[in-house]
Amino acid sequence: MKTPLLEIKDLWVKLPDEETSILQGFNLTINEGETHALMGPNGSGKSTLAKILAGHPGYEVTSGEILFKGEEILEMEPDERARMGFFLAFQYPMEVPGVTIANFLRLAYQRRFNTEVKFLQFHGILMKHLKALEMEPTFANRSLNEGFSGGEKKRLEIVQMSVLQPQMAVLDETDSGLDIDALKIVSKGVNAMRSPERSFLVITHYQRILNYVEPDVVHVMMDGRIVKTGDRSLSVELEQKGYEWVRGELVGV
Ligand SMILES: Nc1ncnc2c1ncn2[C@@H]1O[C@H](COP(=O)(O)OP(=O)(O)O)[C@@H](O)[C@H]1O
Ligand SMILES: [Mg+2]
Repeated sequence: MKTPLLEIKDLWVKLPDEETSILQGFNLTINEGETHALMGPNGSGKSTLAKILAGHPGYEVTSGEILFKGEEILEMEPDERARMGFFLAFQYPMEVPGVTIANFLRLAYQRRFNTEVKFLQFHGILMKHLKALEMEPTFANRSLNEGFSGGEKKRLEIVQMSVLQPQMAVLDETDSGLDIDALKIVSKGVNAMRSPERSFLVITHYQRILNYVEPDVVHVMMDGRIVKTGDRSLSVELEQKGYEWVRGELVGV
């Protein structure tokens, strides 16, 4: 019997001063141990969903629910969600003068596990994770206000995930086109962490990353909801036929 880890039920989301909804009756259930891919054309609402899951304040949820481990999380602060084992890739402050990656991650670690950890002790933990991800130890000393490239932000996100050991991680690949090295870091981090208890939602416009992280389930999102679900072969088919093929199917063309 599969145990649902994340259940999103009939979610409707809009911007505060707009009438039309971005998410329009979005439904998704992810069981423990499953990796799902959420694909869709630009503007279909993928990043909005990721932000809602992270507790981003800029949107209005007009109806629906989001259960994590059976508990409603919509009213929870981002910190509270993180303590439950939900990974919030959007929560890192990218422009904090003088704060190093090591210090920022130490604070996140302390909040996640509700414990104090001395700098030296944490340094050891962090080095272990950096090594496993084949990343330079000096990355830990970078300052958060230095300005990161898209690939470096992804690296930081994956180290953060590795250190925090979440039970569920949502990764929005953005559509900015990661270079091949960043792609490998992301997939290596995800693959190393896959387990029967841990689940992933990989959000992507292109199926490229799915060559490295093989999803159990693939969903296609359009106009704010999931319109088609399949297995790995669906993403390959999308690559060949494009999103308009799905749209055509929907209207019975
Ligand atoms: N903060 C925002 N301000 C204005 N429009 C937004 C905002 N967030 C999302 N949208 C709009 O909602 C739609 C979905 O956007 P998004 O969730 O980023 O889609 P995707 O990630 O699938 O490309 C787009 O039309 C986008 O312009
Ligand atoms: Mg997006």
